[in-house]
Amino acid sequence: MALRIIRELGDPVLSKKAKPVREVTPRLRKLIEDMLETMYDADGVGLAAPQVGMLKRIVVIDISDERNEPVILINPQIQEQDGEQTGFEGCLSVPGKSGQVTRPQHVVVKAYDMDMNEITVEGEDLMARALCHELDHLEGQMYVDLVEGRLYDNEELEAMEEMEAGEGVTFDLEAEDLEDK
Ligand code: NI
Repeated sequence: MALRIIRELGDPVLSKKAKPVREVTPRLRKLIEDMLETMYDADGVGLAAPQVGMLKRIVVIDISDERNEPVILINPQIQEQDGEQTGFEGCLSVPGKSGQVTRPQHVVVKAYDMDMNEITVEGEDLMARALCHELDHLEGQMYVDLVEGRLYDNEELEAMEEMEAGEGVTFDLEAEDLEDK
């Protein structure tokens, strides 16, 4: 495995639509392993292939505290969505920032696993937010375009009292940034 460079906002690859995966070749398997390693290294909750410069419809997510429950989604598609949640979210491609975004409270996603077997993943709360955020990356869409109000520096947010309530904050924020301050 190897770390890949995370592309940042302004990189044209982030605004392009990713292409469907037909077959999980050894090269793609390596990409997926690298994406997981890169996500864990950056303390992110999710990562989409375009964020490491690959226009493939692949997403990895892990919302667990122990960082040991990876979800790998190939060619994911939202099948159902309901409810609404508004909260802060961030992105490894927009380091040190976050903003408020409204997402569905619950989503059902159909996708394929590494063996190209069809799988269904259901998510609520943070998982629903992560699924929507990462799937948007495959369409070349960034959360910054959905932000209600403005984008905040994480330090600024940290200083705000709302942070103490811990309500709906942190998405793929770098955990380090939050702990250090
Ligand atoms: Ni992101």
